[in-house]
Amino acid sequence: RINLCKIINFPKVSDYRGNLTFIEGNIHVPFEIKRVYYIYDIPSGETRGGHAHIELEQVIIALSGSFEVVVDDGYTRKSFFLNRPHYGLYVPPGIWRELINFSSNSVALVLASTLYDEKDYIRDYETFKKMVSGGFWDEKKKL
Ligand code: TYD
Repeated sequence: RINLCKIINFPKVSDYRGNLTFIEGNIHVPFEIKRVYYIYDIPSGETRGGHAHIELEQVIIALSGSFEVVVDDGYTRKSFFLNRPHYGLYVPPGIWRELINFSSNSVALVLASTLYDEKDYIRDYETFKKMVSGGFWDEKKKL
């Protein structure tokens, strides 16, 4: 399932005044955007994420600066380096993710398919692995 994590390129309108990127729900990302949040002022060396979601899909964008997103489907790990605001990483449900190596002044923007619900989080890696082995996310929605 790791290959469901994909870079999505967004429209970029460039002219002498600079660049503009826009993202429309269900058009440029494969879900309706219900929530937007951003992570910023990250102390050097800190990591974020460290969880998986039962249902939530999201797209992670480096609005400013750079960082890496390590994704893990319970079997395979893959790392994506994000450093420009005109593309993002789509992360489906059932993927453990960690955001690491934040550059100074980086801002991570997240577009999410659901409102915040702590019950949708799996914050324990062993629990995640057990759910994967049990086939919890098999036959779930594909991109
Ligand atoms: P956390 O999941 O640890 O953030 P990250 O995935 O970036 O490491 O969330 C930090 C806190 O913020 C936690 O107490 C839950 C809260 N929170 C909300 O209240 N609403 C939200 O939309 C999000 C993403 C987090």
